[in-house]
Amino acid sequence: MASSQWHRWLCGLCVWGSLLIGMGAFGSCTSTNPAKDGGGSNEPVKTESIPDRKVADDKTPETPAEKPVNPDVKGVIDAHKAVGLLTPEQCGTCHKQHYEEWRGSMHSYAAKDPVFLAMLAKGIADTKGKLDQFCVQCHAPMASRLKLTPVSQNSKGVHEMKFDMTNPMVAHGVQCVTCHNMKSVEATLNAKFTLSASTYYGPTGSAAANKAHPMAKSSVLQSSLMCGTCHNVVNPKGALLENTFSEWYASDFNGDTPEKTKRCQDCHMPEYQGKITVDGPVRTLHRHYFVGVDQALIKNFPKKEEQANLVKKLLQSCAVLHVERRPDAEGKLSIFVSVKSINNGHNLPSGSTADRQVWVHLTIKDEQGALLYESGMMDKNGDLMDRVTGHSVTPKGDPHLLMFGQFLFDEAGNHVTFPWEAARTEDNLIAPGQTKWREYLLPKDKFLNKTVTVEAVLNYRTFPPFLIRKLIEEGYLKKDALEPIPVVEMARKKIQLTIR
Ligand code: HEC
Ligand code: HEC
Ligand code: HEC
Ligand code: HEC
Ligand code: HEC
Repeated sequence: MASSQWHRWLCGLCVWGSLLIGMGAFGSCTSTNPAKDGGGSNEPVKTESIPDRKVADDKTPETPAEKPVNPDVKGVIDAHKAVGLLTPEQCGTCHKQHYEEWRGSMHSYAAKDPVFLAMLAKGIADTKGKLDQFCVQCHAPMASRLKLTPVSQNSKGVHEMKFDMTNPMVAHGVQCVTCHNMKSVEATLNAKFTLSASTYYGPTGSAAANKAHPMAKSSVLQSSLMCGTCHNVVNPKGALLENTFSEWYASDFNGDTPEKTKRCQDCHMPEYQGKITVDGPVRTLHRHYFVGVDQALIKNFPKKEEQANLVKKLLQSCAVLHVERRPDAEGKLSIFVSVKSINNGHNLPSGSTADRQVWVHLTIKDEQGALLYESGMMDKNGDLMDRVTGHSVTPKGDPHLLMFGQFLFDEAGNHVTFPWEAARTEDNLIAPGQTKWREYLLPKDKFLNKTVTVEAVLNYRTFPPFLIRKLIEEGYLKKDALEPIPVVEMARKKIQLTIR
């Protein structure tokens, strides 16, 4: 890739990233539906200042050389000429452990994900086909590149994408050959990478591997850049929807030297001792579960329980929750709650932040357990009261809600729900190492002369119910297609106070 192009993209994204993070609070984001002071104060979330962003320099590794097809495996490849590349099942005949782990990962789920498929169908229909390959270039990259997902109009004139789930190049989403054939990274956004048709890339390019298939050592595969090609998303209207790579790039995890750097792989592909093939030697390998926050919401997806446990463990290791009483302010009881992001290479949440919800559920109860105050509760539909019309039945019912996520806006500044509709985003996310807090200022008379228990719970969920409801109401998602969306408890803190 031309280094100037890389530099330009990256700088652009970093500037965007810092602007967005700098805006901090959600208080000002809900512009179409500003909250009135409903009993308590409506203080914006307080944010520590974050250090200046690093200036992007060119860290693109050199492209490994292409190799001729090894005649030993030509037969194998020829046998699958329909797609020209091996499927995960075929790689799995020799690489069982890697296949078993990948199968349960969100990369394997990327094109089977019913929420994705529903959104894709709606996006293609709503934009009269203009969205075209935009979504599938990352969620079903092989299919898109092999031109297996064309868009056409049906008999009713509605635009549809052909999505043949019986073809492994379509159904298997981000698969072995997407990563292991990646020859170069053109830019760290929107799947701008090239694939080799004849060479696999691995961490060593060993002679043993080359005996089995053409194999070259690749620094691309081992760098965060390759993950960054898909983990930065800018939609056709220029809205920065996902920024995980740029968040990481600007963080201390992107050190000056390899020793000081923690790559995406270091956290999401931890090392273990094992064999690449059953009869090979024991060596240091890398997990292919790609654990994040997400779990499959369909029946019979492999390794669901394992993935759910790993997600829980990760989410319970990356935030510190703190609760204390502060001196009364403006004659009101002051409860201070803060969240610090730790061991996290990018913002919390990150990725598809317009869907993700991280929030504090705060309760104050008296000695008998009667509820005196609550924030971060759900309405009868399970929605949070985030002050946006259409999200909750009582959008303004929770004036103190402390929530981390992203809102999407169209050109006119109205809230929108779907990624292709957004012209602009505003977010409130916690950068690596950063602390954000809220002071809940509450009328004191309710608590006076009581001993109360103040409990804060930090929660994570991947989708808000209103989004799923919208897809069901419009007929893009079947009512019982999804299992319940889990709410993962990240942390819990409790204190007792006697209020005088
Ligand atoms: C016929 C069996 C076989 C098949 C099929 C196969 N491999 Fe391999 N692969 C091997 C062997 C053998 C090694 C070397 C094992 C060792 O070093 O212990 C290897 C090594 C590797 C390595 C490590 C290379 C390195 O640089 O250290 C990667 C990555 C790899 N294979 C990827 C794949 C992918 C991706 C597929 C499917 C597209 C695939 N393999 C299909 C047999 C196979
Ligand atoms: C220091 C460890 C660390 C590094 C480095 C790291 N991550 Fe993460 N990642 C985490 C943790 C912890 C979570 C779960 C909390 C969260 O969502 O941020 C996570 C979550 C994610 C998620 C799900 C985010 C969400 O909230 O929906 C994605 C996607 C992801 N990481 C990709 C990446 C990519 C790509 C890179 C490299 C550019 C990377 N990670 C680097 C620790 C790390
Ligand atoms: C999202 C990208 C991605 C996908 C999908 C993926 N891999 Fe990998 N794989 C990697 C990376 C990155 C490494 C090297 C990690 C490192 O060295 O830090 C790796 C390493 C390997 C290795 C070398 C041994 C090891 O564990 O380090 C083998 C073998 C392998 N992968 C096989 C597979 C197979 C088989 C599949 C499909 C079933 C697959 N991979 C899917 C990214 C991927
Ligand atoms: C070809 C595009 C592509 C590449 C390359 C890629 N990813 Fe992903 N990744 C995705 C997509 C798409 C999803 C979301 C799938 C879904 O849930 O629908 C995803 C999901 C994930 C998740 C799970 C997020 C969650 O919410 O649980 C993690 C972690 C992750 N990727 C890490 C990585 C790492 C690390 C690399 C580099 C070694 C990488 N990815 C390379 C496209 C890619
Ligand atoms: C540049 C690559 C890229 C493009 C383009 C892209 N996505 Fe994604 N998408 C991702 C990655 C990476 C993730 C995982 C992020 C995370 O877990 O937070 C993701 C996650 C998602 C999720 C959440 C999956 C889950 O189950 O939690 C949905 C839904 C989704 N994308 C829909 C879409 C739609 C619809 C489009 C087209 C308008 C689209 N994506 C375009 C890369 C992309």
